[in-house]
Amino acid sequence: MALTAISLLCFADSLNLFYAQKSLFLTGQQEQIPINVTATNKFANTKVPYPTAVTVGMPIFGVLNKLKDTNNSFTFTYSINKSFGIYLESVNGLAGSTENHTYWELLSKKGNSITRLNVGIGCYQPKKNENFIMNFTTWD
Ligand SMILES: *[C@@H]1O[C@H](CO)[C@@H](O)[C@H](O)[C@H]1NC(C)=O
Ligand SMILES: *[C@@H]1O[C@H](CO)[C@@H](O)[C@H](O)[C@H]1NC(C)=O
Ligand SMILES: *[C@@H]1O[C@H](CO)[C@@H](O)[C@H](O)[C@H]1NC(C)=O
Ligand SMILES: *[C@@H]1O[C@H](CO)[C@@H](O)[C@H](O)[C@H]1NC(C)=O
Ligand SMILES: *[C@@H]1O[C@H](CO)[C@@H](O)[C@H](O)[C@H]1NC(C)=O
Repeated sequence: MALTAISLLCFADSLNLFYAQKSLFLTGQQEQIPINVTATNKFANTKVPYPTAVTVGMPIFGVLNKLKDTNNSFTFTYSINKSFGIYLESVNGLAGSTENHTYWELLSKKGNSITRLNVGIGCYQPKKNENFIMNFTTWD
């Protein structure tokens, strides 16, 4: 089920990446934007924000790798689905499971509005000041 959350919007988003790369070419510098990456788990009652700054156009996959490389308290694992791309498997040692019907739901909070992402971590490019939320949850 979790994988159905990943769709084809990658193509629309690569247009943004194109513009980001174009502006990089024109200005010669990589614009950094502040975002938060948050890991929430209602069952364990935890909510850990990781404030960071990332290059415009960088997909979440790159953001998570950067966090992992710079903060010992953050780790994640992923798998590659040949059709759907990079799939987030675990965060800070906790993995979703088919047996328990659990997975890491991907959400984006901008201002007070929260939306559920319909693309995976390999595609999604966070915007300035957004809070990218990885929410450990269950499916029916
Ligand atoms: C990729 O994801 C689809 C959709 O969930 C699933 O049907 C398929 O078995 C997966 N493929 C692999 C190799 O995991
Ligand atoms: C990240 O979250 C912290 C704590 O909630 C907040 O103070 C900060 O403004 C947030 N940063 C961004 C870029 O949203
Ligand atoms: C790692 O992230 C945690 C949670 O946001 C934070 O308290 C800690 O200061 C960070 N460590 C480093 C080295 O940035
Ligand atoms: C399923 O949930 C139980 C209870 O939280 C846990 O002990 C077990 O490791 C989980 N199974 C998997 C495959 O994650
Ligand atoms: C995260 O998952 C919990 C448990 O399923 C759910 O109650 C909560 O609404 C989710 N958080 C967000 C921001 O959707």
